[in-house]
Amino acid sequence: MYVLKAEGLCKSYQTSEGILNVLDHVCFQMKQGEKVAVVGPSGSGKTTFLHALCGIDKPDSGMIQIKDNILSEMSDDELSLFRRKHFGMIFQDFQLLESLNIRENILLPLILDGRDEGEQKRCLQQVASAVGIEKLLDKGITEISGGQKQRVAIARAFIHQPEIIFADEPTGNLDCKSTTDVINCMTKMSENFHTSELIVTHDLYVASFCDRVLLLENGNFTGEICREEKNFAKKVMTLMSV
Ligand SMILES: Nc1ncnc2c1ncn2[C@@H]1O[C@H](COP(=O)(O)OP(=O)(O)OP(=O)(O)O)[C@@H](O)[C@H]1O
Ligand SMILES: [Mg+2]
Repeated sequence: MYVLKAEGLCKSYQTSEGILNVLDHVCFQMKQGEKVAVVGPSGSGKTTFLHALCGIDKPDSGMIQIKDNILSEMSDDELSLFRRKHFGMIFQDFQLLESLNIRENILLPLILDGRDEGEQKRCLQQVASAVGIEKLLDKGITEISGGQKQRVAIARAFIHQPEIIFADEPTGNLDCKSTTDVINCMTKMSENFHTSELIVTHDLYVASFCDRVLLLENGNFTGEICREEKNFAKKVMTLMSV
């Protein structure tokens, strides 16, 4: 059963040098609980692809289906509500609100969804302990490290138990130790909730934790390695050395 299916996605940008075709009839599927990494050279369209799939941007053409829902058939309001309910987002620069403390940042998806205080407390306890930040909840965003910020962002992304997590370079600003912590947290949470994850990354370590690694270049996927394959990690390394 596919949780996400995309067919014939096209996206181009008008630039000063003419039209730039970034996505050229891209097709993609992801199963429930699957973790997929998208890798590729800088400027190859990874963020454009992720933004199209999660409804941040509209593709020029093509179809995106999440379970039985087709994104292009939704109004803007329906799409924002759908994204809020079914998706969790993790960004390279964390995108936490400095005007709120850590507890409030994490609770935001539940507050926006009108969940009662008992449920907020229960869910907060569950995600905060899974990412190891129970003791930080009353601190401000500016008082914590980058690795801790990304763990807060992970807790926020998972708190409403979304179907799919979209992560764009989640470890791009982190050192090795924090990268390991963040990947362990994401793995633990996605296993707990059976969440699917689409992760754009330049990091071999992050990609090697995924079930599938896809190479995006020149407007489409030109390579794919699956975890079941022999010498998976070595093949991922070769794929990422383009
Ligand atoms: N709004 C825009 N207008 C014009 N060109 C754009 C726009 N957004 C992206 N591009 C161009 O589209 C191409 C793909 O950009 P995108 O950000 O998707 O690449 P990427 O693979 O995520 O790169 P990186 O690894 O550096 O994050 C790039 O050449 C970029 O300059
Ligand atoms: Mg990018």
